[in-house]
Amino acid sequence: MRIDFDPINLYSAMVGEDHGLTPQEISAALPRAADALHGFRKRFEEGAYGFPALPNQTNEAKQILAWASKLRGSFDAVCLVGIGGSALGAWALDCCLRGPHPVQGAFSPKSPRLVILDNVDPDFIDSALRSMNPKKTLVVVIAKSGGTAETVATFLIVKEWLERALGKKAARRIAAVTSADRGELKLLATQEKYDTFHIPDNVGGRFSVLSPVGLVPAALTGVDVMKLLKGAAALTEASWSPKLEQNPALHAALLHYLVWTRKNKPIQVAFPYSNRLWGLAFWFRQLWAESLGKARDRRGNLVHVGQTPVAALGATDQHSQVQLYMEGPPDKMFTFWAVSKPGSEGRIPKTKLGLPAFDALAGQSLRKLIEAERLATAAALTAQRRPNCTFTIERADEEHLGGFIQLLEFETAFMGELLDINAFDQEGVELGKKFTFGLMGRKGYEQYKDEFSAYEDRRKKAAGAAVVSRR
Ligand code: PA5
Repeated sequence: MRIDFDPINLYSAMVGEDHGLTPQEISAALPRAADALHGFRKRFEEGAYGFPALPNQTNEAKQILAWASKLRGSFDAVCLVGIGGSALGAWALDCCLRGPHPVQGAFSPKSPRLVILDNVDPDFIDSALRSMNPKKTLVVVIAKSGGTAETVATFLIVKEWLERALGKKAARRIAAVTSADRGELKLLATQEKYDTFHIPDNVGGRFSVLSPVGLVPAALTGVDVMKLLKGAAALTEASWSPKLEQNPALHAALLHYLVWTRKNKPIQVAFPYSNRLWGLAFWFRQLWAESLGKARDRRGNLVHVGQTPVAALGATDQHSQVQLYMEGPPDKMFTFWAVSKPGSEGRIPKTKLGLPAFDALAGQSLRKLIEAERLATAAALTAQRRPNCTFTIERADEEHLGGFIQLLEFETAFMGELLDINAFDQEGVELGKKFTFGLMGRKGYEQYKDEFSAYEDRRKKAAGAAVVSRR
């Protein structure tokens, strides 16, 4: 397995001192990296955070595989109901390992389709249910808290859809992934005797892809989860190394931190040049945003820290975003994600048509073209003094993906240490959830309904006071 980190275009020698790092700045910050490693290792050893241990939980993975292999062949679709960290990891795995979305194959018992219901848009749910046959669908409902409104509402619809077709047998076609000893999904799963898998308490949603949250859907759809864990285990070992050149997660965390905070780059563009990594870019967006966007540091100081992650796809977004990236505000840093050995070559036919734009490409390959486009974009951004770096994975396979996932999770954890924030909570999303519960009439949340009414009153007053031209 090979995963490389190329930081050279983050250096001042390439993008100038206003945007890039001098050797002195990097040397002076090395003790910070050592502290970050120490700090996170200590918290891990105290049991506060569990994601680094997931790759070693091979017994659980074997149980999941044995369970999945008994069911395989009886369904042509796996319908995952979950949201945020309970859905994005499964999407990232599926997109990378089973053919890039949205051109994945048809529904079939040999290679079941993964349909992820991660939004409560009624049209989306309606179309998704119409696309599946309930008699050939296995439902996996995932919620660590066991009570997330979007997941619960969608699951009630899916459960009824299944029961209409299968009656009492529906419960046998539902698996739950949730906490072992809390939450209402756990109560329901016990009552209805769903096959149930548990998420360790010390593994947060966005860090849970290598727990049953990602492994259950992956095993059901034929992914080699042991290889996924093998790759992740290798990167875990590397991520505990104090030597930066052997620890790409710590190396990237330190340089990203320095460029972000010292060279004022509040936006990071994750820029895969691979459709297979497109799902992972969305998974990363959540990981980086929810983990690092925080109001207070660990000592309680108000800091309002965070770097906005943007997902862009090469080469597609060269024709959509790169104008802004090249000439707009210099507030971004770029992290390219490359696959050095894609599965296909994409041979371009040799036939010459006597047309220069066509003939220049005849006989070459898409592999060479996409590589040239990535290198050219990196060179162009560098010429504009836009700092950028590149992660290269050799192949978009289980081992590399497991390793890359673990690398990005470690990088995020180290970044939390460098910023002195708790990267593992998400207080900021709680208020919106409480307002939703209040508006949907949930018992115990009446106060939030009242607060929402007060907010509506303020809006009316503000609208009345503002000079708005209406036709
Ligand atoms: O990372 C997180 O903790 C969140 O994004 C959760 O995954 C998300 O809110 C869904 O939570 P749950 O699994 O409890 O439904």
